[in-house]
Amino acid sequence: MSAKHCVLAYSGGLDTSAIVPWLIDQGYVVHAVLVDVGQSEDLPALREKALSLGSETAVVRDAKPEIFEKVVPYALGLGATYEGVYRLGTALTRPFIALEQIRRARELGGGTLIHGATGKGNDQVRFEYAYRSLAPDYPVLAPWKSWEFGGRQDLIDYLANKGLEGDYEVIKDYSLDENFWHLSVEGGVLEDPTSTLEVDRVLASVADRFGGNAHAKPPSKTLEIKIEEGLPVSINGESVAPDRTIARLNSDYRHEPWSWDLVIENRFTGVKSRGLYINPAAKLLHIAVDALSRSCLNKPTFDYYVNLGHQYAAMLYRGEYFSDQRMILESAARAVMRSLNGDVTVNLSPTPYVSRINADRPLFCEEIATFEKSDFSHQDAQGFIRLSWQSAVGQPFSEAENESAMEPNARPASEVCRDQSVSGAGLVSSAL
Ligand code: ARG
Repeated sequence: MSAKHCVLAYSGGLDTSAIVPWLIDQGYVVHAVLVDVGQSEDLPALREKALSLGSETAVVRDAKPEIFEKVVPYALGLGATYEGVYRLGTALTRPFIALEQIRRARELGGGTLIHGATGKGNDQVRFEYAYRSLAPDYPVLAPWKSWEFGGRQDLIDYLANKGLEGDYEVIKDYSLDENFWHLSVEGGVLEDPTSTLEVDRVLASVADRFGGNAHAKPPSKTLEIKIEEGLPVSINGESVAPDRTIARLNSDYRHEPWSWDLVIENRFTGVKSRGLYINPAAKLLHIAVDALSRSCLNKPTFDYYVNLGHQYAAMLYRGEYFSDQRMILESAARAVMRSLNGDVTVNLSPTPYVSRINADRPLFCEEIATFEKSDFSHQDAQGFIRLSWQSAVGQPFSEAENESAMEPNARPASEVCRDQSVSGAGLVSSAL
């Protein structure tokens, strides 16, 4: 197939809808791929839309089974958040959208790979890293980097001029990305952090998206979550697979006042952005797994675990899914997650908190932790402090030196250490 054929990751939104006729204007034959990542949209209707915009072919591919098998276990079991808050909804799906696109291009015998991400965001990196890793010989085109349009209104005008009007006005204020995990809202009023944000108004304007019909009242006040090897296996006694659990929690709790996270994040491109992420399932499951990890893991393993979560999140955020580091992080994650087993009760009001942890093999020991009388030997702590101080601090530190260290022309730390070393050593040995 000639390079004038192209395979577009088509979402049905404004950007990729404008890209179809634009590509045709550039002489391309367009093959659209709509990837099902759990967005609550009518995908067959969007497929028709891609065709009506001029695509030669349009196919729907379901990436959910692969996403649930390959990446969700780690996003859940590691409680992975980027910069401590963002639960990665968009970052989880992008590599798998690119993968479906590449598979389609291979079926067609080649073609240029096209995505609709802008030059400001992370998504361009995620798509193009995946293309480079998996299909380095395929040409790539990102229309946002070469076309004449400057913003969303330009795209609406362009489509209208071609007689291809759509319902783009409804959501034109925001950039939305929706999947099985979250609905992300960026742009619009979120772009000015100095003006007071009315989250309720933003939520109301996107209320019809994400997770089907709202329940008048959430179905439970508490959730008993059974976790095996870091993953939820049953909720309130009913066995449910993680994909069903996530779908159900998202649909049941998406209107709760705690269902979202609002954060300014550092994009990989260096541009800061502000996002509202509606992701109640991820929030609840992260809270539950976190509580279990605190009960089950010893201190060094817990530190590794927390760090693994940060590393895994940052790796995914930067789009490095098809890489050695992902494999390394996942094998370490599996080793830690094996220890995360037990039941966790999450109370949902006023905001979710863990009211009970029943770990299969807890390291939290009431006999030791209690403030009441127990077999614990308080005398043991004397020796513990003497010995651990020796390695943690090792020499006395005078109050006068402490004060002078705060002054602008303080003596260098090396001089202070020299003066103290003799008396310090004497004091320690006499104490022991
Ligand atoms: N800031 C988030 C991320 O980089 C969300 C991006 C959402 N993408 C979008 N095209 N609206 O993962």
